[in-house]
Amino acid sequence: MKYMSKVSGLWSLYFQFLFLTLILLCSLNSVLSRKTSSFARSEYPSVDIPLDNEVFAVPKGYNAPQQVHITQGDYDGKAVIISWVTTEQPGSSKVFYGDVEGTYDRSAEGKTTNYTYYKYQSGYIHHCVIDGLEYEKKYYYKIGTGDSAREFWFQTPPKIDPDTPYIFGIIGDLGQTYNSLSTFEHYLQSGAQSVLYLGDLSYADRYEHFDGVRWDSWGRFIERSAAYQPWIWSAGNHEIEYAPHLGEFITFKQFLHRYQRPHIASKSSSPLWYAIRRASAHIIVLSSYSPFVKYTPQWLWLYNELKRVDREKTPWLIIIMHAPIYNSNEAHYMEGESIRAVFESWFVHYKVDLVFAGHVHAYERSYRISNIKYNVTSGARYPLPDKSAPVYITVGDGGNQEGLAGRFLDPQPDYSAFREASYGHSTLELKNRTHALYRWNRNDDGNPVTVDHVVFYNQYWASNRRRRRLKKYHSSLNDMSYIVTY
Ligand SMILES: *[C@@H]1O[C@H](CO)[C@@H](O)[C@H](O)[C@H]1NC(C)=O
Ligand SMILES: *[C@@H]1O[C@H](CO)[C@@H](O)[C@H](O)[C@H]1NC(C)=O
Ligand SMILES: [Fe+2]
Repeated sequence: MKYMSKVSGLWSLYFQFLFLTLILLCSLNSVLSRKTSSFARSEYPSVDIPLDNEVFAVPKGYNAPQQVHITQGDYDGKAVIISWVTTEQPGSSKVFYGDVEGTYDRSAEGKTTNYTYYKYQSGYIHHCVIDGLEYEKKYYYKIGTGDSAREFWFQTPPKIDPDTPYIFGIIGDLGQTYNSLSTFEHYLQSGAQSVLYLGDLSYADRYEHFDGVRWDSWGRFIERSAAYQPWIWSAGNHEIEYAPHLGEFITFKQFLHRYQRPHIASKSSSPLWYAIRRASAHIIVLSSYSPFVKYTPQWLWLYNELKRVDREKTPWLIIIMHAPIYNSNEAHYMEGESIRAVFESWFVHYKVDLVFAGHVHAYERSYRISNIKYNVTSGARYPLPDKSAPVYITVGDGGNQEGLAGRFLDPQPDYSAFREASYGHSTLELKNRTHALYRWNRNDDGNPVTVDHVVFYNQYWASNRRRRRLKKYHSSLNDMSYIVTY
């Protein structure tokens, strides 16, 4: 008996231990669900690839078109803007195109521009809009003349429809190093149909006199993708290139000469902020480096554009900009705070699905949180879980020469779900009006490896309650269009 009670005593101790462990594990679990990946891998040195490398090869032939790239040319995806550069002489700005390979039965006339930046003299930059295209069709196009002519193709998106599947790639802060090349090659294998580009393109401003030669090499670097599918551009700080010491006072000069946007189609007065609709998505591009406070052109434009969003037609509401709003990296910490203070309540009220940003050279994904109750007087200041809020994702890890942002705030804040300082890119597969499959793919010693993997439920279609609230919010808004003059 005595022996037995000793045993049962041991058993009860054992159970108590088990029970305590369970409690401990449960409480740990909420901590563990925030993840800071400690993955470390060999990376290429953060130096730009030399100009004579084949990735920057100049196409053969006199005055051959180079740096060919396309972007969406209208609001709904039935137009494309085709751009390229010629160097010896202006040459033709005409695009020949058609829907049968080698038969170019249509043509469109573009325009040519050129600029100087300090001592750099640009080539002849051509932009040509081709419109009235049919949805979901492959088009072939030819630019340049004679032996130097070059041929490419692209596929138009499906028509605007809430359930049409579509795959976006997401790349930020790419630059032109060996790490950039690794990211770019992985992106080429991804099967994505167009790129949401999160700003900071060539990093030419890291060179003496902000050398335009590195804008040219970057244009040739991305041509393998950008000539065949649209890249949707947002502006980063490396595009500002404000250099009074060089006598260069016009901001975004090189960027805006080279990369076009269909901003007029969304009634924007500037190519730095605009919107497009593509398949089942409404994409809003914001500029972190243009005025955005109340009553500025960007603020007024966004106020009106959000009212135009029709979730019955385009359920996926996605915003891209350069500086992240929620970021727990020591690099650029809180640089997005000013834009958060202005726009976050709209993001929550309009049930934005996802906000993508770059700028911080690492990867991070937030939970659905908001800080719209922030009050400078009462002291309320912590972001709180909020089912109506977007998920904020930072994909600033394209691989440019500034290297990785390896130091995260410790401990990881509650709003941060996953973070890792590695290079890579993301893909977003919109399946239908309710489901989207999202992946972040790390460059892992030459292979793309999916590390962060999430199914997103649409913020409008996944909840009847939120749908009703959005409709109510819509009808409560004033008409501010009278302030806007286009
Ligand atoms: C543009 O090109 C023309 C023709 O070569 C040249 O005369 C002109 O100076 C250039 N303009 C700028 C702003 O570089
Ligand atoms: C939407 O896509 C998801 C994932 O592919 C699928 O499970 C779901 O049944 C689809 N819903 C509809 C309404 O088709
Ligand atoms: Fe940046």
